[in-house]
Amino acid sequence: MSKVALVTGGSRGIGAAISKALKDAGYTVAANYAGNDEAAKAFTDETGIKTYKWSVADYDACAAGIKQVEDELGPIAVLVNNAGITRDAPFHKMTPQQWKEVIDTNLTGIFNMTHPLWPGLRDRKFGRIINISSINGQKGQFAQANYSAAKAGDLGFTKALAQEGARNNITVNAICPGYIATEMVMAVPEKVRESIIAQIPVGRLGEPEEIARAVVFLASDDAGFVTGSTISANGGQYFA
Ligand code: CAA
Repeated sequence: MSKVALVTGGSRGIGAAISKALKDAGYTVAANYAGNDEAAKAFTDETGIKTYKWSVADYDACAAGIKQVEDELGPIAVLVNNAGITRDAPFHKMTPQQWKEVIDTNLTGIFNMTHPLWPGLRDRKFGRIINISSINGQKGQFAQANYSAAKAGDLGFTKALAQEGARNNITVNAICPGYIATEMVMAVPEKVRESIIAQIPVGRLGEPEEIARAVVFLASDDAGFVTGSTISANGGQYFA
């Protein structure tokens, strides 16, 4: 029987590419999403991958959502914590609400998803947790004090939990994408985006599939000795 993989934010952007790549690699995939019903429906119509709606910022919703996926598809072996949002603002303009929304989704969200799943992974003595952090959690980014703090926190979470999971054959790793051609990056003002691309040695934005392929590797049995690590995929923009 194929392993079940759950991808948060899995119907759009990098998450959609991850969901498709895992399906192509033979997993039964569940794609979580928070709000965009239309995009989720189009994604299911295109790929045949089931979508499930809840917010990763809500612990109880995560626990219920995981239970629903497991009831329908079987025990989850692979969790990809991909869901993320931006609320960019220079710090002097950043509101407590902008801070809170980003921390709740991008940092607390990975706790909310991983914690209810953890006992099952320990019992089954197998698990793959893959956290999608960001180059901006490594280097910081102007107008992203909230996002950079959350994404750096994701890396600390990854390294701590890797130590706890190891004895039960659960690996916990992170990927730090650089600037990838998704709606999130396209929302950055064009002039700013051009100046960002000028800082990327390969001279282009990344493709979502270039992150998805790294996820497929980390999820595989071949990656059993890789844990607590961070894969940077940023076109040479920053060497952590
Ligand atoms: N470094 C230094 N200065 C910068 C800067 C930078 N990277 N970006 C903007 N500034 C400066 C501007 O030049 C401007 O300076 P002046 O006032 O002297 O003209 C000032 O900061 C901006 O002031 P504004 O009052 O115009 O700012 P604003 O309230 O309109 O906010 C912004 C604009 C939100 C900062 C906008 O420029 C922006 O979105 N920047 C991009 C931030 C970014 O890179 N976000 C990453 C999104 S993608 C992502 O997050 C995915 C991932 O993981 C990689």
